[in-house]
Amino acid sequence: MKTYQLPGFRLEFSELSHTLFSDGDFNSNTLYSRAQQSLKEKFHQKKIGFYDWPETLSKEEVFKILTLAQELRSRFEGVLICGIGGSHLGAAAVVEALRSEEEESKFPFFWLNNVDRWSIERATHFVKQRKVATLLISKSGNTTETLSGFFHLSPFLDPKGVVIITDPETGELRRWINQHNYSHLPVPPNIGGRFSVLTAVGLLPIALSGIDIQNLIEGARNLKAKLDQTKVEDNPAFSYAMTSYGWDKKRGHHTQYLMPYQSNLKLLTDWFVQLWAESLGKKDKDGKAVGPTFVGALGSRDQHSLLQLFKEGPNNKLVGFIDVASSSQPLKVGSAPVRSPDFEYLCQHTFEEINSKALAATAKSLDSAGVPTYRFIFNELSPNSLGSFILFQQLACAIAGELYQVNAFDQPGVEEAKRLLRQSL
Ligand code: PA5
Repeated sequence: MKTYQLPGFRLEFSELSHTLFSDGDFNSNTLYSRAQQSLKEKFHQKKIGFYDWPETLSKEEVFKILTLAQELRSRFEGVLICGIGGSHLGAAAVVEALRSEEEESKFPFFWLNNVDRWSIERATHFVKQRKVATLLISKSGNTTETLSGFFHLSPFLDPKGVVIITDPETGELRRWINQHNYSHLPVPPNIGGRFSVLTAVGLLPIALSGIDIQNLIEGARNLKAKLDQTKVEDNPAFSYAMTSYGWDKKRGHHTQYLMPYQSNLKLLTDWFVQLWAESLGKKDKDGKAVGPTFVGALGSRDQHSLLQLFKEGPNNKLVGFIDVASSSQPLKVGSAPVRSPDFEYLCQHTFEEINSKALAATAKSLDSAGVPTYRFIFNELSPNSLGSFILFQQLACAIAGELYQVNAFDQPGVEEAKRLLRQSL
């Protein structure tokens, strides 16, 4: 097993998944240095801004977001958030992972990221029930779903509680802001939707939910500080990117799962899927279609459905797990309603133990079937550890883009469908 310690979490590759690195193709440093060189140039020329962003984000900008969040929380009873894709998933994932039930009931959120009738009716009910603030988040400023949902609900919304988060210069929403008097925050032009969770796109909703955004940013800074001091061949972000690339391209493991064993991390897998799928599913420089299929799953739940396929179906998958190592207040199962010697073994355990052991059992069973696996282990789920994990995933995904020789930062397929939708309307 190969283990990397990172700020807030560790990454363990199973023996099998790591065998990739004993292949001639993978222990040569040529791929690494080419990817590193090309990414360095993009970061250096400021074409791509996500990696340096947490480090350069000023105290004043963070303070502005915190003050706005505080003010909205004092004037309103909840928030409607209109946004889709990268303008929704990162923030929603962090809020779902970290917000307590108590906080949720103090200041409820409605994420409007779909405009089917069911969603619109539920959103309408939500905004009619209470006085809500509104975040309208769209980097391009012209996403049909986001705008149409907001327009439909606007008769029930207080214009003084609307904050628009969009590109600082271009796009329809920016023109609108310039003509009317809406509060607004910018999305840095060199940070694309799915890479934008640590900008105002994610930070304002996360701050509104009561989660400490300074710690989240601190976590990302710690990750960068650690990786910047690591030689490329020892850099876990490179090994992680290479594991995805190598098992897909060289060993035919075209489907890659991420499976946390905590229900509050399910949305994190949706964010992961979007990040990797939208960044890598492309034509490479020779016009060849590349990119594995990324899928999110949830343990233990999906252990009782997908595991059968993972183990005995075609061996063409790479399976990643997320485990949370401990809890400060472990929860005991407790006695069965009627005592029975058959169940005594179970009653003394905690749910943390059961969950962790369920994950270990799945991983063991996959090992024995020759399925490559890896595992992220968080010491605790906190803003700090998630900030570190987010930047780690974004960097690894950008590195994978270089390995596949695709532009990880555009999304022509998504843009075309957006354009066709607008045309057809
Ligand atoms: O990652 C991306 O670029 C996309 O998923 C976008 O975030 C998504 O299409 C929404 O775009 P916008 O923020 O322009 O409304």
